[in-house]
Amino acid sequence: MDGFGAPRRHYRVTNSTNECARELAAAGVPGGTIVTATEQTAGRGRRGRRWSAPAGKALLLSAILSPLSAEHVLLPLAVPIAVCEAVESLAPLECRVKWPNDVWVEERKLAGVLIEAQPPDWAVIGIGLNVSIEPDEFPTDLRQPATSVGHGVSTEGALEAVCSALARWVEAPADRVVAEFEARDALRGREISWIGAGGQEGDSSGVADGIDERGNLVVVSDQGKRLSLGSGEVTLTLDRAAREDPAIE
Ligand code: BTN
Repeated sequence: MDGFGAPRRHYRVTNSTNECARELAAAGVPGGTIVTATEQTAGRGRRGRRWSAPAGKALLLSAILSPLSAEHVLLPLAVPIAVCEAVESLAPLECRVKWPNDVWVEERKLAGVLIEAQPPDWAVIGIGLNVSIEPDEFPTDLRQPATSVGHGVSTEGALEAVCSALARWVEAPADRVVAEFEARDALRGREISWIGAGGQEGDSSGVADGIDERGNLVVVSDQGKRLSLGSGEVTLTLDRAAREDPAIE
């Protein structure tokens, strides 16, 4: 595969670029193909949530990675790292990754990632990056506050930077991805709670302590156990921290 960006299919309005990209991937288009849109009517977020953005003010990108191999095991971490690097190449911002794959700037969500995959054939890497959304244009009922890149950056400029960073990070060796994640880890040392698998009854809160080699979140539970939480299995809340810092969900 030779980078991301060509061929490109752009829609002025579509339901979801991920949906379009999935159809293209299933039809066998080459890896590196991207789908973008000015506006989505049914943008998808993680865990069945909706993703919405005012027309033309966010980068709405779905990139097809094909084939998908065991070497891509850390793809969910590599993608937000690529977004961080792209954004920092465009604007004086410091980006962090909130496991598994949100991008945060100063405790606010800048970008979200939704990866849908059919191994070993393909993965659709969906990225929603707020580029020029004004604070009063975000929905008031967001689970956590959001922010934009700003600084006069355009969605096309963001697209170019993200595609180029993505090409590098998607193929990066696992040790580099883990090291970079650790440098950008927004949760390490913070008190978190979770719902779902990842421990026995009663193990549902603790302190985040980085990631393991498979990209699971490592936590030390309040009972003193060291646990690995898989992103497909748990829902995190930062509720205890949120009591002290209302800026987080
Ligand atoms: C999340 O934070 O929940 C993930 C949001 C991912 C949104 C992007 S926008 C482009 C692509 N198309 C979609 O329908 N979703 C992703």
